[in-house]
Amino acid sequence: MAGRFVTFEGIDGAGKSSHIEALAGWLRGRGHEVVMTREPGGTALAERVRELVLHEPMDALTECLLVFAARRDHLRACIEPALERGATVLCDRFTDASFAYQGGGRGLSVAVLAQLETWVQQGRQPDLTLWFDLAPAAAAARRAAARAPDRFERQDEAFFERVRAAYARRADDQPQRFVRIDSAPERAAVQVAVLAAVEARAWW
Ligand code: TYD
Repeated sequence: MAGRFVTFEGIDGAGKSSHIEALAGWLRGRGHEVVMTREPGGTALAERVRELVLHEPMDALTECLLVFAARRDHLRACIEPALERGATVLCDRFTDASFAYQGGGRGLSVAVLAQLETWVQQGRQPDLTLWFDLAPAAAAARRAAARAPDRFERQDEAFFERVRAAYARRADDQPQRFVRIDSAPERAAVQVAVLAAVEARAWW
């Protein structure tokens, strides 16, 4: 049986990473093969692209083409083979991040993004997308405590408001795969919501 493809989204600082780890542990405990991966990245080539996208100055379209090029390699070399052998793929960000950051944040046309999505994914979409939603001011406070900012994390609150609004539009357009997780509560409470969303699918 084909595996399931689960993606994790949200603005920087919403706190998704620790929940991916916890969910992987929960699934492995039930005997499932889990592949944890991320975007941009997930293959040797795509990780090199990630370094460029996160740290080198470039215009919005270049940034967009690079994340989709990395995605193409990631799908072919990592995600598709894992799904074919029945693994659960947990991916930290995927194409919804391109609609949110390059579309909402940078202002690129949704039509361009949709065309790239079609070319690169050839119909592949996540089975489930957990969207960790948090107000930009709260996310900024969490980020400030955590790490040195990359090109995206240095953006202002208005940028993250646009990213958040673009995630909300994607969630409205594709409600069958999106689950919004309110990330304002403390971590343990968010964890409960994550497991509830996963168990509700009854796939595992
Ligand atoms: P992130 O996944 O949050 O990693 P970390 O937790 O190590 O900071 O960072 C990746 C950044 O890349 C994030 O700011 C969003 C951005 N991004 C895009 O702009 N477009 C995309 O398509 C993807 C996948 C990520």
